[in-house]
Amino acid sequence: MFPQHIIAKKRDGHALTREEIGAFVRGATDGSWADYQLSALLMAIFLRGMTPEETAHYTEAMMRSGTVADLSAVPGIKVDKHSTGGVGDKLSIPLAPMVVACGVPVPMISGRGLGHSGGTLDKLESIPGFRTDLSLDAYRAQVARVGCALIGQTKDLAPSDKKLYALRDVTATVECIPLICGSILSKKLAEGIDALVLDVKFGRGAFMKTKADARQLAEALVRVGKAGGKKVRALLTAMEQPLGRTVGNALEVAESIACLRGEGPADVMEVTYALGAQMLILGGVAADVAEAEAKLQAVVADGQALEKFRQIIAAQGGDARVADEPEHLPQARIRVTLTAPADGHVTDVDAMGVALAALRLGAGRARAEDKIDPAVGVGSLVKIGERVTAGAPLGVIHANDEGAATEAKAMLAKAITVGERPGSTPRLIDEVIG
Ligand code: URA
Repeated sequence: MFPQHIIAKKRDGHALTREEIGAFVRGATDGSWADYQLSALLMAIFLRGMTPEETAHYTEAMMRSGTVADLSAVPGIKVDKHSTGGVGDKLSIPLAPMVVACGVPVPMISGRGLGHSGGTLDKLESIPGFRTDLSLDAYRAQVARVGCALIGQTKDLAPSDKKLYALRDVTATVECIPLICGSILSKKLAEGIDALVLDVKFGRGAFMKTKADARQLAEALVRVGKAGGKKVRALLTAMEQPLGRTVGNALEVAESIACLRGEGPADVMEVTYALGAQMLILGGVAADVAEAEAKLQAVVADGQALEKFRQIIAAQGGDARVADEPEHLPQARIRVTLTAPADGHVTDVDAMGVALAALRLGAGRARAEDKIDPAVGVGSLVKIGERVTAGAPLGVIHANDEGAATEAKAMLAKAITVGERPGSTPRLIDEVIG
């Protein structure tokens, strides 16, 4: 099977066979296809698309390009959650301990932030000592012992994705539903899970800008995940303004701890409970959303969720004191407050604008090799619809550099609009698919 024949077949709009897709993914994994051949086929797929069968074969080949973790020795239905990424999206951090405290094991392999969207691993690593680079054996043992491990991608899991994602990034072939589907699901299915809940975001701060595109992606993810033998559900959620009141790594961990105490911002609590409810239902410990939400609220109220978070932090070498004393998290040297120019209502908080301000402070990465500063970001953000008086805070810049603080404050000022009328607050949870 010559690469050029497979490329030509897709270029001319034909569906590839399982064997042809297997040859392509093997070529990416063992280096037997040149980068220009891989890139040519990626572009042909981008332009011609893939049928549902091709997408399922592609996902399976990617998953089998490395180790598939075996968690069958861990009792219970193992459920993970994946988000397509957003601004201030720290939901995995409060969600995982809550769900585990309700009796559902959560093996979670997460990514780092890239571009404007943050990554769970970077947030967790702001906890002093917290290690996310566990081996697959240590991951398995911790899921069995604590019910949860929050780790990063290992080199053994879906290695073809690492190669192909790097090529997609530089060949304008990222925004392609079959390729996104294969990339996300191959990594998730290799974790050893039984079920998956997806948070597919749409809006200015999301990867998918329109609801229609997000729905198409969600439907494809659910279909291919089910074809892989997993129970899968997807929530479509809005990402117009940042989630919660913080954007930045340690700031978001502190906000996540507040959520585990039941004191988090209303929007973060709402989406966390909605995702958690689907995880409990798929995990077989609740019959419906009402029962599931009641269980989640109970483990928050009686402290079991926070205790589970302490256990996870301690198991991964972190300083578990942060769960009770968030001042042990890294703190920025400089604080600058942006204030409201006049009395009025917050009519807009542009998620992308806030993300770019946080990026300027060093909270995220413009390129994969950039180092992040865990302490910096934007805190105490107002939400759309809130009433403010002249001089009241709209957000606080946490910085370690004076110049960056000044620039980020100007960027934040552009992202937040105060007007006379309250306007409408966007609905957060749009639809459940699957
Ligand atoms: N996230 C991934 O892991 N892969 C994609 O292709 C897009 C988003």
